[in-house]
Amino acid sequence: MENLGNIDWEKLPFGYMKTDYNLRATFKDGKWGEIEVHTDETLNIHIAATCLHYGQEVFEGLKAFRGADGRIRIFRPLDNAHRIQESARGIKMEPITDELFMKMITQVVKMNERFIPPYGSGSSLYIRPLEIGMSPRVGVSPADEYLFMVMVMPVGPYFKQGFKPTRVVIYRDYDRAAPCGTGRWKVGGNYAAGMGATQRAKDNGYSAALFLDPKEKRYIDECGPANFFAIKDNKYITPKSGSILPSITNKSLQQIAIDMGLEVECRPMKVEELEVMDEVAECGTAAVAAPICQIDDYDMGKSYTFGDPAVAGPVVTKLMQRLQAIQRGDYPDEHGWVTIVE
Ligand code: PLP
Ligand code: COI
Repeated sequence: MENLGNIDWEKLPFGYMKTDYNLRATFKDGKWGEIEVHTDETLNIHIAATCLHYGQEVFEGLKAFRGADGRIRIFRPLDNAHRIQESARGIKMEPITDELFMKMITQVVKMNERFIPPYGSGSSLYIRPLEIGMSPRVGVSPADEYLFMVMVMPVGPYFKQGFKPTRVVIYRDYDRAAPCGTGRWKVGGNYAAGMGATQRAKDNGYSAALFLDPKEKRYIDECGPANFFAIKDNKYITPKSGSILPSITNKSLQQIAIDMGLEVECRPMKVEELEVMDEVAECGTAAVAAPICQIDDYDMGKSYTFGDPAVAGPVVTKLMQRLQAIQRGDYPDEHGWVTIVE
């Protein structure tokens, strides 16, 4: 086994790293099989598998943390189980069971325990479950055989700026999802659809593209890899939309906001409202709560700015700190969000 002595836990990027084991389970002949332990990073799949041709792929992202008490905590894994089941149903795949999902998540974390970044490093173990359609099909129809897998890797912040505010951009000639499409599910195709705008945004020095509602282009939807929220006076405002992913981080931050005495509004949010917002941020498992200092509405030639570009605003900072404290066991888990791995 390779020595981990040369990993700089505080400077990890958000990227792939080989770890010791990945776990797999196959749905075949109408039932899920046994959990298989693999060290191999590759798959052997049929050239006509539905995942390759018709995008039958769903995935998740969640994290495990090492606490000051040495214990390992996984944040809200059952919520991810339920969301991957919804995503699978959405594109006619076989949903994994709660029991198998939880078993595989805890087992893969335990088996790769040496890759969990130490407490205080600011890094965490990213858990990436995914499911793909395996049956060969040339006509468009769902597979009857599925492969569910879980891999893990230690990661640092999603945006290389860490918790420093970044700029994001609206390009009005791209959509990541359609009004009655797949935006509310975590399917690979959404990320393919968002790749053009995202890459253009990055090439122009932005951290992400911010997508508008695909029907009217009047309301804010979400960023490519994260939900969006804003702070105005004592309110936490976040878009309600049928074409965004229901973010578990956003749901958690809304509860934390209520716990801190803020009001929460989940409602359609007009682009022009950005004019009056005090703080804005993107939130997600990978992004945590990443402050935004500027939003350029490129095609409208408009720019919105928020606070000091060098430091995150006070409310976003407080929300992010509380979320991280709960995840790492530094603040009481009052809402039962944390699963401790024994
Ligand atoms: N929106 C999109 C498109 C995402 O990919 C993610 C990441 O999973 C999120 C939002 C945030 O969701 P969560 O907080 O559950 O990670
Ligand atoms: C996550 O936040 O876990 C994600 O899946 C977002 C991104 C890396 C696609």
